Amino acid sequence: MRSVIAETYGGPESLRIVDAPPPTPAPDQVLVRVAASSVNPLDTHELTGRPYLVRIVRGLRAPKPDGRAMGSDIAGVVEAVGDQVTRFAVGDRVVGFGRAAWSELTAVTESGLVRLPEGVPLVDAGGVGVAAITALQGLRRGGLVGPATWGPGEVEPMRPRVLIIGASGGVGTFAVQIAKLLGAHVTAVTSTRNLELVARLGADDVIDYTTTEVTRGIARFDLVLELAGNRRRRDLARILTPTGSLIACGAPRGQWLGPLLGPAGLAIASRFSRRTYASFLAKRDTDDLQRIADWLGEGALRVVIDEVHPLDRIADAVAHQLGEHARGKVIVTIP
Ligand SMILES: NC(=O)c1ccc[n+]([C@@H]2O[C@H](COP(=O)([O-])OP(=O)(O)OC[C@H]3O[C@@H](n4cnc5c(N)ncnc54)[C@H](OP(=O)(O)O)[C@@H]3O)[C@@H](O)[C@H]2O)c1
Repeated sequence: MRSVIAETYGGPESLRIVDAPPPTPAPDQVLVRVAASSVNPLDTHELTGRPYLVRIVRGLRAPKPDGRAMGSDIAGVVEAVGDQVTRFAVGDRVVGFGRAAWSELTAVTESGLVRLPEGVPLVDAGGVGVAAITALQGLRRGGLVGPATWGPGEVEPMRPRVLIIGASGGVGTFAVQIAKLLGAHVTAVTSTRNLELVARLGADDVIDYTTTEVTRGIARFDLVLELAGNRRRRDLARILTPTGSLIACGAPRGQWLGPLLGPAGLAIASRFSRRTYASFLAKRDTDDLQRIADWLGEGALRVVIDEVHPLDRIADAVAHQLGEHARGKVIVTIP
C-alpha cells in the first residue's frame, strides 16, 4: 500500500511516498481504508522537527523508525476490526484521528473514531479530526460548555463574549461555528481577505488584524481563544473581563524555549489571578468526536476547505499549510 513517510527532518521535500506493508490491527484497533485526511500544524511540526521539543519524543537527529509514517486526520471506511472492537463493523464510514493517516490503510485505536453520519462527504470529514476537537476542547477549557437555558418568566442570560484570534484557519473556522452553537457572542480576528468568510460562518463581529489591534480596543471578552501565537499575555489580559479566560492553543513563537516558557508563564499568572490563563493540548475523546459528528450530520457544522490535493501531491498540500495562511483545511485525498 502507498504510505507517506519522512525519514529526515525538513520541509515538504523530505516526504516520500513508499510501498509499505499493510498494518495488522491490534485487538483494540480498527483497520481503516483512508479516503481523506488533512494537514495540521501538528503534522508540520513532526515533519520539520520544530520546535525542537518535538525531537525529544520523535528522535533527536531523525524521526524514529516507528514514527516515520505521517498524517493524523482520518476519514475512510472500515476494512477490518480487531477481536475486542465492539463499535465498528467492516464497511462503516468513520472519522477521527490517529497516526500514519497519509496511507492507504491505517490501524487506529477504536476510541479515536466515530461513525460518519450519512450525507457527510468523506472528503470533508478528512479535515475534521484534530482541528474540530481542538476547537471544541479549547472553548470548553475556557468555560464555554453549552447554550444557556432559561424558563418562562426568567430573564435571558447574557451570552458569553468570545474572541477568536486566527479565526480563518483550520481550528478557527471550527471554533467560530462551535462557539455559536454553544451560545456565545463571537468576535473573530482575521485578515482582510477572510473577513467575509468568518462572518458567513456566524461571527457576530469581525476585526481585521491588518488595520486594527484588538488588544488596544475597549471591548472586553469572557473568553479569548488564541490561535495565532503571536500576542503577549499581558496585552491579551487587558481585554479580558475580571474573571475571563485566555486559552492559548497556538504555540508561542520560537524554536527552543518559547514553547515551554509560554505555557509555564500562563500557569504561574493564573495562580495569582481571578482570571484563567492556560495553554492547552487537544486530547482524543470519543464523546467529543461524536458531538462533532452529530453537528456535521445535522448540517450545523461545516468544513471549510481551502485546497484539495491527491496523495501524490502531498508535498504541495504540506507547503500550503506551512505558509500559515490556510483558509480552513488543506485536504489530502487518497484515490
Ligand atoms: N494545542 C493544541 O492541541 C493544538 C491543536 C491544533 C492546533 N494547535 C495550534 O493552533 C494554531 C492554529 O492551528 P490551525 O490548524 O488553525 O492553523 P492554520 O490552519 O495554519 O491557521 C492559521 C491562521 O492564523 C491566522 N493568522 C496568521 N497570523 C495572524 C495574526 N497575526 N492574527 C490573527 N490571525 C493570524 C491565519 O489567517 P490569515 O490568513 O487571515 O492571516 C490563518 O487562518 C497553530 O499554532 C497550531 O499549532 C494547537
